Amino acid sequence: MQQLTLTTERLLLRAFESADAHQVQRLAGNADVSSTTANIPHPYPDGLAEKWISTHGENFANQSRVTYAICLKENGELIGCISLIHLSSEHPELGYWLGVEHWGRGYCTEACREMIKFCIERFSLKAIYGKHLSRNPASGHVMEKCGLTYIGSDTGKDGFMLVPEEFRIYRMLCE
Ligand SMILES: CC(C)(COP(=O)(O)OP(=O)(O)OC[C@H]1O[C@@H](n2cnc3c(N)ncnc32)[C@H](O)[C@@H]1OP(=O)(O)O)[C@@H](O)C(=O)NCCC(=O)NCCS
Repeated sequence: MQQLTLTTERLLLRAFESADAHQVQRLAGNADVSSTTANIPHPYPDGLAEKWISTHGENFANQSRVTYAICLKENGELIGCISLIHLSSEHPELGYWLGVEHWGRGYCTEACREMIKFCIERFSLKAIYGKHLSRNPASGHVMEKCGLTYIGSDTGKDGFMLVPEEFRIYRMLCE
């Protein structure tokens, strides 16, 4: 099963390739990106991006998660990542990050809207969830702009972060 490329006004969402590893390490390895995400280490070790990318094909094939590289349409530059994890569960969950130099231009919202549309159609989802650390309101703003609604807060006890910290939970009902 092939992972189709998606397009928006300014972006291409495509499957990651092994050649993207260096750019992933550079962008995701920024402390300002890793400090607000659940599973991106800092410093970002050599070889991790290659290993991560190598899991995408199987994850898509068995419908456990779908991961897209966010690229600029105008020049193909890889600027970030968007994924939907726990796809086959009752709680499919959005995740995303963008390289710091690309923040604040609406790119994440644009990617997220397309990703949600694609996943609802392709995987017949009943609901989509999202979480962000309470100290990271930009992420919650993205979710709200994409149609998710705040449903409550919790702490890191579900493993969202290694250090317990308050996070906010959002949901979109799809049926
Ligand atoms: C979260 C992240 C993906 C947002 O990407 P982005 O492309 O800058 O997001 P957008 O421009 O589409 O939207 C961000 C919105 O949040 C708003 N915002 C930014 N900082 C904010 C803040 N401190 N408080 C409230 N809103 C804020 C922006 O104004 C924008 O809203 P607007 O379009 O109405 O003006 C990016 O900051 C990032 O990669 N952060 C590090 C990784 C991360 O946090 N991932 C999410 C983990 S849950």
